[in-house]
Amino acid sequence: MKNKIEQIRNEFIEQLAQAKDNEALRELELKYLSRKGEFSEIMHGLKDVNLDLRKELGELANSVKLEMQAKFEEARQTMESYGKKSEFVDVTLPGEKLANGHLNPITLVQNELEDLFTSLGFIIGDGPELESDYYNFTALNVPPLHPARDMQDTFYIDSKNKEGQYDLVMRTQTSPVQIRMMQKYGAPLKAVIPGRCFRNEATDARHEHTFYQFEGIMVGRDINFSNLKSFLEIVGKRLFGPSTELRMRPKFYPFVEPGNNGEYTCFLCRGKGCRVCKHTGWLEIVGAGLIHPDVLRAGGIDPDVYSGFAFGFGLTRLAMLKYSINDIRLFNTGDIKFLEQF
Ligand code: PHE
Repeated sequence: MKNKIEQIRNEFIEQLAQAKDNEALRELELKYLSRKGEFSEIMHGLKDVNLDLRKELGELANSVKLEMQAKFEEARQTMESYGKKSEFVDVTLPGEKLANGHLNPITLVQNELEDLFTSLGFIIGDGPELESDYYNFTALNVPPLHPARDMQDTFYIDSKNKEGQYDLVMRTQTSPVQIRMMQKYGAPLKAVIPGRCFRNEATDARHEHTFYQFEGIMVGRDINFSNLKSFLEIVGKRLFGPSTELRMRPKFYPFVEPGNNGEYTCFLCRGKGCRVCKHTGWLEIVGAGLIHPDVLRAGGIDPDVYSGFAFGFGLTRLAMLKYSINDIRLFNTGDIKFLEQF
């Protein structure tokens, strides 16, 4: 009996030393110290031994039990203070820095342009990236087989319509949304359309299969070329500063007549000539012109009553110029090191 008491005590102390959490402590308490625990069994067993021995063993058992309870209490308190320690928060430590998200440079320029044009009374439109051949070309005065289709390397989609023709393309420009906006809102109309476009380009630092444009149209009565010119002048000054000048040079776009390329004073060298403007002092920024009567007609607008102008910025190109990005492919890499700079 004596040995048994000693043995329980030793086992208990050994296991107590190994108890790592409150759970383990509770189990030990149950196993050794509770009313159904091992010690209670010993105490019960005492009633069967003779009086002298019972006295002796009883005293021993009592002192061992007290010792065990004291050790248990000690362990419990240590455990508690550990728990408290891990909950302690040092509010004077520097916090963990959360990484901030960044707007893509294209989004930044798009926001800037949208702010500018909405302040001039334009609405913002949107159209599908998977576009019909009709909206992307035919309605824009580029009928099937017209050589102007060769100007844009197009991704044609490998699916035929009911008539057995391929009629879906990844839009090569935001111009098809000119037609969609005219059909939806009629005239008069002032709308801008930012959006992603696709061309089957051989990619290099200046060419990419996926890029962004920013289109705009204004349709109303008596809108003429001088309106377009003064309008683009205002836009240039607002975008690149009050000393910015505009020059327009003829360029063929099938959906405008006359068509032209709008060039602004290079905002990097202020017209002195630098590498970026190829030492001309001018940057080609916007394609523009008066909307062709056939295009107005395709949009459901009578060209004998209304006229208008259209323009298209290369949004990706603007972002590259503005942020001195020298490789267009960076936009599609998703490279955090690139994106974090803006
Ligand atoms: N859509 C033309 C392009 O992609 C740009 C443009 C838009 C030109 C509107 C004139 C008017 O090159």
